[in-house]
Amino acid sequence: MYFEENKTALLNLFTESFGNSTLIKLTLSNKRAKASDLNNVFIRPVAIKEQIMLQFTYREETRDITSNYPAEEAVKQIDLLLTGTFMNADLFTSTADYTFLSNKKGNSKLLKKAASSTALPLYRHDKLKHRLISAENNVYLRELGVLTNDWKVKAGMEDKFRQINRYVELVEDVLRNAALPDRFSIADMGSGKGYLTFALYDHLSRNYGKPFTMTGVELRPALAEFCNSVAVKAGFENLNFITGSIEGSELKSIDVLIALHACDTATDEAIYRGIRAGAGVIMVAPCCHKQIRKQISPQNVLKEITRYGIFEERQAETLTDTIRALILEAWGYKTSVAEFIATEHTPKNIMLSGLRKKIRTTPDPAVVKRLSELKQLFGIHYHHLEQLLKMD
Ligand SMILES: C[S@@+](CC[C@H](N)C(=O)[O-])C[C@H]1O[C@@H](n2cnc3c(N)ncnc32)[C@H](O)[C@@H]1O
Repeated sequence: MYFEENKTALLNLFTESFGNSTLIKLTLSNKRAKASDLNNVFIRPVAIKEQIMLQFTYREETRDITSNYPAEEAVKQIDLLLTGTFMNADLFTSTADYTFLSNKKGNSKLLKKAASSTALPLYRHDKLKHRLISAENNVYLRELGVLTNDWKVKAGMEDKFRQINRYVELVEDVLRNAALPDRFSIADMGSGKGYLTFALYDHLSRNYGKPFTMTGVELRPALAEFCNSVAVKAGFENLNFITGSIEGSELKSIDVLIALHACDTATDEAIYRGIRAGAGVIMVAPCCHKQIRKQISPQNVLKEITRYGIFEERQAETLTDTIRALILEAWGYKTSVAEFIATEHTPKNIMLSGLRKKIRTTPDPAVVKRLSELKQLFGIHYHHLEQLLKMD
């Protein structure tokens, strides 16, 4: 393909990702003239005095030089650098990665790959980006202590506010692809203080276009009571909180099941209820992963990993959530994993989503076989969710 066309397409992707806050970085490499001092240029968004600028780091043999440009000028600079100095560019966004490759003959390619990081970029686009949940006149966020009485995000609550927005975005993306009944029900298992429950209700009731009811299930009566009082103040008529357990609470139907940071096997109990209720969507952000950790005892080369405590813990997390994803798949769900928010803000960072594609009364034997092989490799006898579903 023609160099100019691909270069323009790359510049457009760069501009678009900057505009919608998904830009992570752009790297320019493979210099045209070997004698040039400049080896690479790294470009990333930075917040400078409430404005988002693009910071260029020009890497030379022995030093780095940085300059900041507004978006329009940045695009011009990248254009010049790609025309005169570098042949390749890698664009990383939280939705996809792109590689631009060219040669001295003027041939070029633009390739797209899955995003290597889905974490929300760390720069703040508050001034440029319309957030799904706004602070202005937001009664529930004030009642929950996120905002001051004059609708400003309280000091120390900025990350919470960002997390709330990111979460709503993530759930909305998944719900847009779900086949839900005309009037649907959402259960939020282990709803706690309800930050995310309220925000999701707020956003969906204004934007989703289908009526729904939402129920928060919470073990601690004081929290359920408090959240009900906030729901009344916010005028959220179809949102209510009940005191009860994830395992035992009575719910008429569950079309969308959500469980965020429900401890250890409480996440499994939630997934179990979702599968049994035939929920169209199951979204969980797991918390601690103790149940599997006690069992991990590989009798093979994986021992090299699990002899270190920290690695064993990380392995347990990955393994537990992979097993959950496989179990969901076995019961007819298409699963995906996304980073909830950058790990700097919380280590409990994974959102596992299942979108029901088939109604199954028994698990898919081919997936069960894959699950069993994985467990065997790590010396795992059982996973709590398998037991609940009587798969073992
Ligand atoms: C870490 S908090 C998370 C709260 C909320 N989902 C969030 O992400 O902000 C977990 C909550 O789940 C509740 N919980 C834990 N196990 C539960 C169970 N088996 N049934 C109902 N609630 C449970 C706890 O009381 C706690 O409020």
